[in-house]
Amino acid sequence: MDEVRTLYPDAYKICQQFEIDQHKMEEIILRMTREISMGLAKDTHSRATIKCFVTYVQDLPTGRERGRYLALDLGGTNFRVLLVTLESESTVNIDGKTYGISKELMEGSGVKLFDFIAQCLSDFCKDHKLENANLSLGFTFSFPCKQLGIDNGTLVAWTKGFKADGVVNKNVVELLREAITRRGDLKVQVVAILNDTTGTLMSCAFTRQNCKIGMIVGTGSNACYVEKTSNVEMFPGYQNSPKPHMIINCEWGAFGDNGVLDFVRTRYDVEVDSHSMNPKKQIYEKCISGMYMGELVRYILVELMDRDVIFKGVKSQTLQQRGKFDTRFITEIESDEPGKFRNAAMVMDNLGIRTSNEKDLMCLRYICETISTRSAKLAACGLVCLIRKMNVKDLAVGIDGSVYRFHPHYHRLLMQNMNLLLNGTVRFELVLSEDGSGRGAALIAAVCAKD
Ligand code: GLC
Repeated sequence: MDEVRTLYPDAYKICQQFEIDQHKMEEIILRMTREISMGLAKDTHSRATIKCFVTYVQDLPTGRERGRYLALDLGGTNFRVLLVTLESESTVNIDGKTYGISKELMEGSGVKLFDFIAQCLSDFCKDHKLENANLSLGFTFSFPCKQLGIDNGTLVAWTKGFKADGVVNKNVVELLREAITRRGDLKVQVVAILNDTTGTLMSCAFTRQNCKIGMIVGTGSNACYVEKTSNVEMFPGYQNSPKPHMIINCEWGAFGDNGVLDFVRTRYDVEVDSHSMNPKKQIYEKCISGMYMGELVRYILVELMDRDVIFKGVKSQTLQQRGKFDTRFITEIESDEPGKFRNAAMVMDNLGIRTSNEKDLMCLRYICETISTRSAKLAACGLVCLIRKMNVKDLAVGIDGSVYRFHPHYHRLLMQNMNLLLNGTVRFELVLSEDGSGRGAALIAAVCAKD
C-alpha cells in the first residue's frame, strides 16, 4: 500500500474514496436497522427501501426430511433444473443440468422466458424418465417478490440485468404453471416459490440448527433472516400465528435507493449506476455484488490510463467497453501469491494490455483489493445489523454466491470486519452453503408436503 501511495498517488487517492472506517460502518448499520424496521411495519412498509418480504417459510428443516423433489433455479447468469434426493442428513443427491439464459431471453417477452423454462424442465424430466412422476417442485426465483403464500409470489421489479416484459406485477408461480400447462407433457406440481437467500438458509439449517441467516454475494447480494412472527406486520396472521418464526427476505440490495448511502458512495459508483439497466435502484447491491465489482475496477483503470499514470503508452480498446472487466478477474488477480503477478499479467494480456511492469500490476491488484474489501465491509455491516436485530448470541450464517465462493479472501475479510464490529459479543460461524438454491428448494417442498 505504501508503495502504491508513493508510486501511484492518483490511484491511491481514488482508492481512498472507497475507504469505510468503523465509525461509518456503525452509521450504515444504524440506517439499515431503520429501513428494516420500516419494511416490517405496516404503516411504513410502502416507504421502506428494504422491503422485508414475508416468505411464508416458518419452519426450519429438522434434518429428517426425505424424498425426491424437483427444483428450478432462476436468478443469475444460468438457469438450472435439479432433481434433489434427500436420502439422509449426510447424503443429499443432486442431479442437475444448467442452461444458459441468453440476453434475448432476459430482455424479451416473459412468455418466451417461461416457455423456455418449461421446455428445459420437460427435456430434463424426459432424460430422467420422470414425465409421469408426480413430483413436487420448488421454484427458486431470486428477484424481489411480494408473496401472498408459499406458492404465490408477485415480481415487484427485475434486478441483475433481467427485464423480460409482462412479468413485473404478475404471480410468477402462475406464469410457470401456465407454461407447463401449455406444453401439457408434465405431471409436476409447483408447490413453492422461494428466494435464493431462503434456500441458502434452509440448506444450512438442515445440518445446523443454529443457522439464522442466509446471505448471497454473487451476481447480486441479499440476505434473509429468522424474525419473530409477531414483528412481521405484513403477514396477515402475525398476531396469532401458532408458529413463532418467519423467514424474512430482506431484499437488502435496494438499501440506499433513497440516498442514505450517498455518504459512502463515490463518483465511480454513480457512473456504474447511471449506465446500469436499473439506474437509481439496488444501490447497496451495486457497491457489493459481482455484477458490478469488475465494472468499478474498470472505471478506475480507464481513468488512470486516461491520465497516463498506469500502463503508460498502451491502449486497450477492450477495456474501454462496458462490462469487459469481469468480476472473475478480481478473484484471479487476488489469487496471485504475494509479490507474484502471474494471473494479473494474464488477465491484462487477455484485455490487450501486454505488460511486464510489475509495479503497474501491483497497483492493479491494489485497486481490486480496494473494491473487494469495500464489498466485504458493506456485507459485514448487513450481517451485523441482522445479528443485532435478532439479538442472538450464537449462530451460523449460511452463505453462497460466486463472490463468496471463489474470491480468495472474502471469507477472511467478512470475519475480520464482523469481529471488529461485534467485538466478541456474539459467537458466529460463516458457512459456505452448498447449493442452497437446489437443496433449499427441495427442503421447502418437503416441509410444504408435511403440512
Ligand atoms: C438480487 C435479487 C434478490 C437475490 C439477490 C441474490 O438482489 O433481487 O432477490 O436474492 O440478487 O441473488
